[in-house]
Amino acid sequence: MELLQKYNTVLTNHLNDVVRTKEPAQLYEPIQYILTLGGKRLRPVLTLLAADFFGDQDHKAIHAALAVELFHNFSLIHDDIMDNAPLRRGQQTVHEKWDINTGILSGDAMLILAYQLFEGYEPSQFQELAKLFSKTALEVCEGQQYDVDFETRDDVTIAEYIKMIDYKTAVLIGAAMKMGAIVAGASQACCEGIYEFGRNLGIAFQLQDDYLDAFGNPKTFGKQIGGDIIANKKTFLYLTAVANSDPNDSQTLEYLFGVNPKDPSDKIETVKELFVSSGAAKATIAEIESYTTKANDILEGIKLSEEKKEKLKSFGQWLMKRTV
Ligand code: IPE
Ligand code: IPE
Ligand code: MG
Ligand code: MG
Ligand code: MG
Repeated sequence: MELLQKYNTVLTNHLNDVVRTKEPAQLYEPIQYILTLGGKRLRPVLTLLAADFFGDQDHKAIHAALAVELFHNFSLIHDDIMDNAPLRRGQQTVHEKWDINTGILSGDAMLILAYQLFEGYEPSQFQELAKLFSKTALEVCEGQQYDVDFETRDDVTIAEYIKMIDYKTAVLIGAAMKMGAIVAGASQACCEGIYEFGRNLGIAFQLQDDYLDAFGNPKTFGKQIGGDIIANKKTFLYLTAVANSDPNDSQTLEYLFGVNPKDPSDKIETVKELFVSSGAAKATIAEIESYTTKANDILEGIKLSEEKKEKLKSFGQWLMKRTV
């Protein structure tokens, strides 16, 4: 997408500076590895975009944008350890290529590097950004803990699932946009509005990530297809499938989400069939659209030109069609 490309070049140049490998190599190489594997760079693009839209003429938001991307990549390294994931962006995960200890420490260092980037702001902005960042980072940890807790629970509700993805994913997307607005000196109302816009888009984004985890194309998605099914993740797909199936199929699903077979291919196939036949796959698509619409409705209350609002809306539309 055009909007993405414009900012991506700027980001890549700056990221290359941040990740120049130093000693000890065992600490810094994995950082360079994960950051140069690419990824969509959605969050930092949204920071730069929000900053531009609210009037950041000096491109001051670059530090905040890089901080958000560093934090995101740190969370991916640790998430892949927690999810036992072999693939990330079509390549080996950090803990597979090196080992778990390397993943833990390189991840920690990235979190610190992210905080360091806020040193580029004068005290009052530094305080506001760091405060938002800390609150968000803690919520991400809470969301990640719920995600893991839910793997072994059989009574998770849809409301609990939405709260979990709000925390692990959506708040960071909201915060990425709000940081851009803060740097640009936008009003409190605009900062809150853009935060809520990003957050609703973020919920749609994670719903879609869960959908693609089951139904994505292994060639383009870059992650192990069926990883959530293997790990018994209580996604919207699963919860809706259990709720909407006849007792027999519900029981099958509940049974399959309580076992961890050595070869998971039959489990994945059966579960995917039930996700489709129960209507859960379709319901997930509808839910993605509904949160995207919610985000668009919030946009109406924000003081921005119609042209900018349209750009943000088409970004949301584009996100819904992604395969990566
Ligand atoms: C993956 O995020 C983690 C989730 C919150 C779903 P992205 O899909 O943005 O990952 P990259 O950065 O583009 O690889
Ligand atoms: C990840 O959720 C959220 C965070 C990294 C905080 P997932 O576990 O679904 O992300 P992927 O699918 O591994 O990218
Ligand atoms: Mg994961
Ligand atoms: Mg996870
Ligand atoms: Mg996922």
